[in-house]
Amino acid sequence: RQKLPQYNTVEDAVKLLKESKNIVVLTGAGISTSLGIPDFRSKDTGLYSKLAHLGLSDPQEVFDIHIFHEDPSIFFSVAKDILPTEKKFSPTHAFIRLLQEKGKLLTNYTQNIDNIEANAGVSPDKIVQCHGSFANATCIKCQYKVPGEAIYEDIRNGVIPECPACKKQISEEALKPHGLKRKRSSNGVHKKRKNNDQDDSSSDEDYDIPTPGVMKPDITFFGEDLPDEFGRRLIEHDRERVDLVIVIGTSLKVAPVAEVPGVLPRHIPQIYISRTPVSHIGFDIDLLGDCDVVVSELSRRAGWDLKHDMIPPD
Ligand code: OAD
Repeated sequence: RQKLPQYNTVEDAVKLLKESKNIVVLTGAGISTSLGIPDFRSKDTGLYSKLAHLGLSDPQEVFDIHIFHEDPSIFFSVAKDILPTEKKFSPTHAFIRLLQEKGKLLTNYTQNIDNIEANAGVSPDKIVQCHGSFANATCIKCQYKVPGEAIYEDIRNGVIPECPACKKQISEEALKPHGLKRKRSSNGVHKKRKNNDQDDSSSDEDYDIPTPGVMKPDITFFGEDLPDEFGRRLIEHDRERVDLVIVIGTSLKVAPVAEVPGVLPRHIPQIYISRTPVSHIGFDIDLLGDCDVVVSELSRRAGWDLKHDMIPPD
């Protein structure tokens, strides 16, 4: 993307903020680090730097859908540390809400699964959770859905959550005469057990013991599609309305979200706020530093009251 020559300074950013009416805000893990939630890729502090003990060839495999199907315990060993917690939010979340209050927020595309935008009072119809969230969980075998909270206790206790619908079906089957059939599963989810205790003709055969499916939080893993709303809203709604793009606290390393700046019209100004510069995407104004500090200063210069000590809504 070619830089627009007329935008350079902090004052240009402030002017753009004041004049714009349809702002797309694209956020990543950096907007929650001041709350003690680690981002992914920061050296030493990011989640991926802390996963060496899992012995993965690439720490991103924690969120790989194929690995999840092979061994869900890898994801669940990390999941308890990334569950949404208290009702807190950072000044940067408050800034997004302030844009909404001023009628300037077109959409907040967030890659975060912490749901903190809602804590700050950003309206659900202004948020696209590009990588899903813990709000719901789905059985990987029968697609039965439960609210996310239903599996929090298991996750906190280090237990792999099992599908209640599968469990019910299995117990009903077992009660039927000849309920425990010998059958072979094609999807590999059923466990095979060798029966060594009997010496009849079937002793060397494998039995498939039906097991319930695993409940997977509705987070978008690598290898899964993003929610439909992401592409639909971006292309069919926002692309022709947006008048300013602000990208905050993301390394823009993960497609397709990383492609958003390039998909929007070239004449629309784009501001990047983060600790670490990116070189693979050309922004018009780079405001490098702690995002809470940067947005506070932008608000001050715009003459706006950024209330980040506000009481979260019920
Ligand atoms: P990253 O960890 O890749 O990038 C976070 C960026 O925020 C880095 O550039 C940091 O320097 C910056 N940062 C951290 N704290 C900051 C602060 N207080 N102020 C300003 N900048 C700060 O996280 P994401 O880009 O969000 O996907 O990662 C994208 C996706 O990769 C995630 O959604 C996740 C991950 O794999 C899935 O799990 C599917």
